Amino acid sequence: MAKKVAVIGAGVSGLVSLKCCVDEGLEPTCFERTEDIGGLWRFKENVEDGRASIYRSVITNTSKEMSCFSDFPMPEDFPNFLHNSKLLEYFRIFAKKFDLLKYIQFQTTVLHVKRRPDFSSSGQWEVVTQSGGKEQSAIFDAVMVCSGHHILPHMPLQSFPGIERFQGQYFHSRQYKRPAGFEGKRILVIGIGNSASDIAVELSKEAAQVFISTRKGSWVLSRISEDGYPWDSVFHTRFSTMLRNVLPRAIVTWMWEQQMNRWFNHENYGLQPQNKYLLKEPILNDDLPSRILYGAVKVKPRVTGLTETSAIFEDETVEEDIDVIVFATGYTFAFPFLEESLVKVEDNRVSLYKYMFPPQLEKATLACIGLIQPLGSIFPTVELQARWATRVFKGLCSLPTEKTMMEDIVTRNERRIDLFGTSQSQILQTNYVDYLDELASEIVYVSGKSRKHSSIFKKNKFLKGV
Ligand SMILES: Cc1cc2nc3c(=O)[nH]c(=O)nc-3n(C[C@H](O)[C@H](O)[C@H](O)COP(=O)(O)OP(=O)(O)OC[C@H]3O[C@@H](n4cnc5c(N)ncnc54)[C@H](O)[C@@H]3O)c2cc1C
Ligand SMILES: *[C@@H]1O[C@H](CO)[C@@H](O)[C@H](O)[C@H]1NC(C)=O
Repeated sequence: MAKKVAVIGAGVSGLVSLKCCVDEGLEPTCFERTEDIGGLWRFKENVEDGRASIYRSVITNTSKEMSCFSDFPMPEDFPNFLHNSKLLEYFRIFAKKFDLLKYIQFQTTVLHVKRRPDFSSSGQWEVVTQSGGKEQSAIFDAVMVCSGHHILPHMPLQSFPGIERFQGQYFHSRQYKRPAGFEGKRILVIGIGNSASDIAVELSKEAAQVFISTRKGSWVLSRISEDGYPWDSVFHTRFSTMLRNVLPRAIVTWMWEQQMNRWFNHENYGLQPQNKYLLKEPILNDDLPSRILYGAVKVKPRVTGLTETSAIFEDETVEEDIDVIVFATGYTFAFPFLEESLVKVEDNRVSLYKYMFPPQLEKATLACIGLIQPLGSIFPTVELQARWATRVFKGLCSLPTEKTMMEDIVTRNERRIDLFGTSQSQILQTNYVDYLDELASEIVYVSGKSRKHSSIFKKNKFLKGV
């Protein structure tokens, strides 16, 4: 009998998981809390609890050439970088082409995912869902957690003394939809991620003044790279990945700095990352440097305090008459429907084997898909994750022992910190081509052999795998 798989969420991770289940002859059921597919990429005017929320102008930061699924190129007439509505259209064509909608139960929220009493022999799960006020429970042989990680806002208000006195408006970036209503205002954006810089640039066209406050600075790349090619098709070649892996670290960081500073010298713009020895993820923004040159966006250091109307910064400068503060301070994640011990974030690391499998389970029948932040597009990454997970469920691939997996989690995390740093926003950061290679090599080797392959992988110094 075909194994039953519960897929939680019908964003991109859920959709590709459904397809992989079908490809492997598994029997999937997808539970999606909302009324439609697309997850984060389905823009809505209102902000909903428990669901990612984006601003109207979001455009992909990874090119269509590097972001499509392996067997389903994006339509010829799609531009290289996609507006969120276009990307959603791609997911719709994908879902239609592989006939995935019939597996999805919409407006159904997963409340609990529990191990069955006989889990150690059956590996089965009880999944409790809620739909229209009615609770239901069903048994599944495996579970794919695809619920996304841009849902719970991270808003460290305790680091902003005086915020309780501040009389202007303040909110998390997930509340931001469009620049209307911010005309003539003086706005402070906190953070320098992709959302922070997008929002600062967009608002600076309407506002009286925008300030962007950054503790650590960031590399900024344009989507347009050498000879006008999309940045990721130039940056993520096999050759440059190989160079980054074989050259000594000092040379790699030097090359990285040269590459990042080719467009403009970050120091002159106040954006130079504090620790330039880290290969921290660059943000993608085509307009930020010019908005800074025009004075429409001013770069400020960390905020040390707020008063009723003003902001005080680390360099002791004060900006008066601030009307609005936007906290583009990222997200934290949680899986309220899982037993707490299954997916843990402690000591600044995620307790999952290769960001997917809880190592302590007697049976590898649960996988997280998309709980990751690769240096490149997430779409091919989640595809490979889903292909591997479904093969593990089917019994074509096996996982190593708990001890080996724990060791891998610890070493991988040390390497991650060494490369990308300890900041909260970097917990899910991975390399791109290396991680994809690693997943792909798990898939190629069938059953018993996959473990043997893992040890070959360790000896191969060209695959550093983070
Ligand atoms: C502003 C922004 C821009 C980005 N741009 C890019 C980009 O250009 N390129 C890139 O590669 N990545 C980008 N990302 C990363 C992003 O994480 C991925 O693009 C991708 O959308 C993640 O998809 P997902 O399916 O994992 O999660 P989501 O899209 O969040 O989907 C999760 C789904 O699960 C459902 N769900 C959640 N909990 C439950 C429950 N308990 N029961 C039932 N259903 C549930 C939700 O309703 C939702 O539909 C961006 C992220 C943000 C925030
Ligand atoms: C694209 O932007 C999102 C949202 O800020 C971020 O999570 C992701 O890591 C970015 N991707 C790349 C390759 O920079």
